[in-house]
Amino acid sequence: MELKILTFPDNFLKTKASPVDNIDGDLQKLIEDMAETMYRAPGVGLAAIQVGVDKSLLIYDINPSDEQRRLQVLINPRIVDSEGRILSENEGCLSVPDFRADVKRAQRVLVEALDREGKPLRFEAEGLPAIVLQHEIDHLNGTLFIDRISSLKRQMYARRVKKKMRAR
Ligand code: NI
Repeated sequence: MELKILTFPDNFLKTKASPVDNIDGDLQKLIEDMAETMYRAPGVGLAAIQVGVDKSLLIYDINPSDEQRRLQVLINPRIVDSEGRILSENEGCLSVPDFRADVKRAQRVLVEALDREGKPLRFEAEGLPAIVLQHEIDHLNGTLFIDRISSLKRQMYARRVKKKMRAR
């Protein structure tokens, strides 16, 4: 089932996600629905907060249009170490439609999480996967990528969205 993706300025996007403590059938169904939603969008990542679910859960696939899809699922993920700086060019987000901006990110991150069976994971990511992980883990902390750009650019986008909403 495809889920509705919340978009800025929906206040739910500011929610700090609650930890998942029950990896059950309902969670697996949510993961399947989120995957369908992400691939259909299409996007490279999706956090549960974006579909209105207060759970610390994210999925990603940096090659979403490939025939060889490789869905990654992280439960209760956190960045335990990071290193280096990289400019994430033209970053975008399914919850921030029609807008892209450059964002400063760490070049490498060390992530701890559980996989969808609840097995502990600890791995390093670099470059694009590291950017996607930082972006999605930000969502689980109530942060959008536009919170990491200049307030001037953010206000310009916010004004554009308000204008569009009034025009409806
Ligand atoms: Ni996003």
